[in-house]
Amino acid sequence: MPDSAKPDPAATQKVKYRKTKARWHPAMQAIPVPGIRRMVNLAATMKDVIHLSIGQPDLPTPQHIIDAYIDALNAGQTGYTMDAGLPELLVALRDYYNKRYDRKLTRDNILITSGATEAMYLALSATSAPGRQFIVTDPSFLLYAPLIRMNGGEVKYVPTHLENNHQLDPDEVIAAMGPRTFAVVLNSPNNPTGAVYPRETIEAILEECAYRGIQVYSDEVYDHLVLDEDEEYASVLRCSVDLDNIMCISSFSKTFSMAGLRVGWVISSQATIKSLRRYHMFTTSVANTPAQYAGVAALTGDQQCVRDMVKIYRERRDRVVELVEQTPHLTGYKPGGAFFIFPNLPRHVNGSDLALRMLKETGVCTVPGDAFCEHNAATLRLSFSAPMESLEEAFSRIIPWMKKQPF
Ligand SMILES: Cc1ncc(COP(=O)(O)O)c(C=O)c1O
Repeated sequence: MPDSAKPDPAATQKVKYRKTKARWHPAMQAIPVPGIRRMVNLAATMKDVIHLSIGQPDLPTPQHIIDAYIDALNAGQTGYTMDAGLPELLVALRDYYNKRYDRKLTRDNILITSGATEAMYLALSATSAPGRQFIVTDPSFLLYAPLIRMNGGEVKYVPTHLENNHQLDPDEVIAAMGPRTFAVVLNSPNNPTGAVYPRETIEAILEECAYRGIQVYSDEVYDHLVLDEDEEYASVLRCSVDLDNIMCISSFSKTFSMAGLRVGWVISSQATIKSLRRYHMFTTSVANTPAQYAGVAALTGDQQCVRDMVKIYRERRDRVVELVEQTPHLTGYKPGGAFFIFPNLPRHVNGSDLALRMLKETGVCTVPGDAFCEHNAATLRLSFSAPMESLEEAFSRIIPWMKKQPF
């Protein structure tokens, strides 16, 4: 080959680099680099780490659910289901919700998805667009804001505060609404704060949204992990007659310790479900088939297993609240649900740096609050999805270590 025909290596290099840069859609920039990775990677290289960082149940999946999964496999249920979901599961969910909230849902009000994650992905990415504003709490579960921003939508944060047990003030939500507000994203019990919103909060927000034609997406994956017995869970399905502007999203992941089986759902008006169903066919097509059979067993089986798990989380919650109270430089509160507490550090402390040092020096892995917060980096998320002995051991390391911090 004559020299002139040979590619100039520097030029090739340049083109290659540009190609790599241009590979991704600019929307990918909306997905944050997860700070938690740094922690988990480091923890993986260490011995004797106690994880207070876990976002999924540590309790075992009830045996009858596992049996149903295996039975489905043995019965050859390894093909696709209908795109809306396994008919038996749609019926079981319909009956379950109708009984729980005294509603008249039909199967056409429900779409089965691959976890609540897919349900939230469908809901947000099918509706987020430039010029549309979505109201989200700060802190909030880390999925919402990136999914909104990826499609050009704008996130408007309404902060919640520890002094108020991270309760959401409906007046602040209403005050944040404007002509561009398209939707409000709710999550109760909340990840990362554990806050459970009372009926008055949900009703006030729903009423205003209905009046203004604003959508409400309610992430209810922790709907059974309500830890105070006197509390009647305020689902959007309990608090609203009309489903036209509501999507209620949930899954089996937390209630039945089935996070890895990946089955969730959206409940909404029939028209909304029809549109989401088309989109669902072009994303994951259907949820895992034997896992949907396991879901039928979960819903129709004895619910004592759920009550037993809630009791365990409640005992842990009560103990963790005491332990946080005894920890220097941490300010706690009593979370009403899920399995998280989100204590404050002194205002000037960077939670990421502190969490990393705490991991290195005590072997306790937490999640820095800035994974969930836009405005307050002086926080940590502690999960009590860990056995009581691990929680005791973790705090027996954290408390003396925190005492030595020169804040
Ligand atoms: C608030 C919240 N929503 C949704 C999810 C995802 O749930 P799933 O496993 O059903 O996708 C989680 C998981 O941690 C969560 O905490």
